[in-house]
Amino acid sequence: MYRSHNCGELREAHQQVQVTLSGWVQTVRDKGFVIWADLRDRYGITQLIFDEERSSKEIMEIARSLGREFVIQVKGTVIERTSKNPNIPTGNVEVLVSEIKILNKSLTPPFTIEDQTDGGEDIRMKFRYLDIRRNPVKNNLIFRHKVTMEVRKHLSDQGFIEVETPYLIKSTPEGARDFVVPSRMNEGQFYALPQSPQTFKQLLMVGGMDKYFQIVKCFRDEDLRADRQPEFTQIDCEMAFVEQEDILNVFEGLTRHLLKAIKGVDVDKFPRMTYDEAMKKYGNDKPDIRFGMEFGELNACAQHKDFGIFNDAELVVGIAIPGAATYTRKEIDALVDWVRRPQVGAKGMVYAKYNEDGSFKSSVDKFYDEEDLAKWAETTKAKPGDLICVLSGDANKTRTQLSALRMEMAERLGLRKKDEFAPLWVIDFPLLELDEETGHYHAMHHPFTSPKPGQLELLDTDPGAVKANAYDLVLNGNEIGGGSIRIHDKQIQATMFRHLGFSPEEAKAQFGFLMDAFQYGAPPHGGLAFGLDRLVAILGGQETIRDFIAFPKNNSGRDVMIDAPAPIDGTQLKELHLKLDL
Ligand code: AMO
Repeated sequence: MYRSHNCGELREAHQQVQVTLSGWVQTVRDKGFVIWADLRDRYGITQLIFDEERSSKEIMEIARSLGREFVIQVKGTVIERTSKNPNIPTGNVEVLVSEIKILNKSLTPPFTIEDQTDGGEDIRMKFRYLDIRRNPVKNNLIFRHKVTMEVRKHLSDQGFIEVETPYLIKSTPEGARDFVVPSRMNEGQFYALPQSPQTFKQLLMVGGMDKYFQIVKCFRDEDLRADRQPEFTQIDCEMAFVEQEDILNVFEGLTRHLLKAIKGVDVDKFPRMTYDEAMKKYGNDKPDIRFGMEFGELNACAQHKDFGIFNDAELVVGIAIPGAATYTRKEIDALVDWVRRPQVGAKGMVYAKYNEDGSFKSSVDKFYDEEDLAKWAETTKAKPGDLICVLSGDANKTRTQLSALRMEMAERLGLRKKDEFAPLWVIDFPLLELDEETGHYHAMHHPFTSPKPGQLELLDTDPGAVKANAYDLVLNGNEIGGGSIRIHDKQIQATMFRHLGFSPEEAKAQFGFLMDAFQYGAPPHGGLAFGLDRLVAILGGQETIRDFIAFPKNNSGRDVMIDAPAPIDGTQLKELHLKLDL
């Protein structure tokens, strides 16, 4: 038996009990006649004591040879500590060791295995298995497990069935590039790894499964960010015989359950906002509504004077930054520099201080008087003491830039509180999105999303105006899920593909299987998928999903621990009928 107890378990009530523990040596403190060692496992830390009076010479010798991260097994008696440690649950006791066995030695680890480590990100990724021994990473994985278990429990209680779908498939477009896998047995042919199980879950609805879910890996070859990994996990769901309202209710239920079970939070409001409203009020389709700073459109009260920059702009829009009227010239200049960084891309920023005494001071006093500025304040809902920041230019770009400033200021002012949760449904997304580079429309969600009833005809005349039965679930400014009501009619699906630029032959070659299935009694259906990594990170009060994934990839899509991707040898290439012209 390797252990009778774990390293987080022993308390004063265990005094005089003979125990066996196994774990890793965290630290050794050698005071000559007495040696203490901290023994660690997943459950906690227990102090071991060896002393010359009570332990044999042989044991003392082994204790002296221990190094950090050695794996050992000890037998001994639980005794009361003379100097107690109130910071850990086992801090009142220690184990007086009577037997010790080194189960495995360890090289000195490249960083300290403690909550505050001296190891940088790169080295910790390379030795991820050591990083996982640290509490912050270990606790995140345990936290993820808890969320996953609650999801399974809740959905199963609601009658959902978990069904696995294949990974070696044909392209399922979700807007990214596919990762492809060459087929040895079919020369010149490739599988694609699923960007999502979208088509399979729809086929499960045709198959009568009615309520499906799956906690499933998805693969997307796209540029990476803090909230994106090339392989990530979805809680993928689909239901038959439902309308949008049914779906929103079911997954509002799941979200409420998770917030309650995991965070102990009761969310009373679960607001809904149209895509158009979100863009107008926040310049963003995933607004963080934990704080205000809503956009005020100023065209009407800023384009009547001689200020050319505003007069030429499609949109003049501002936000009121709470309490920032006291900013110095230097602080405001820094803000202007911030919006001019290439990542944000504004040409400049106009500001107006709404002073505590009700007076105004702006960077455009030459053009605008107090009466004008009072209108700006009214429109941006500024209060005395606020700083009104105004951007102008092309409507879409300006909204995006001001949204970036809004988020940055909220972060700086501490308005994005970790323990506050504000979910939001964003609904009525446009069906199509214009790709500015190619001039073509592509599906904003995916090609299987149905237009709103009665809007199909608009596809021919004004495709950009067609709205979809598509919705996103936003939590604290992050898109944690998205879905839609699907097309379940072959003809409508064919029309949709035509509008997306597929010839009938291409549509048949790529998605014939789905359109064929629609001819055999496809029920009305719809669903959504949560991004599990994002959901877990946000519930955990963070936004970097890497910290909640056991073995994540870095920003270049590499696993630096196993060193992948990597070249393959000539024989393998040949078997796969691949030639590399390097
Ligand atoms: P969508 O593409 O919106 O929808 O994806 C659903 C959710 O998955 C998460 N997500 C990601 N998380 C981490 N890394 C990524 N690279 C990544 N990409 C997406 C997001 C997102 O909201 N089949 C549809 C769902 C449906 O219509 O039912 C789909 O995949 O949180």
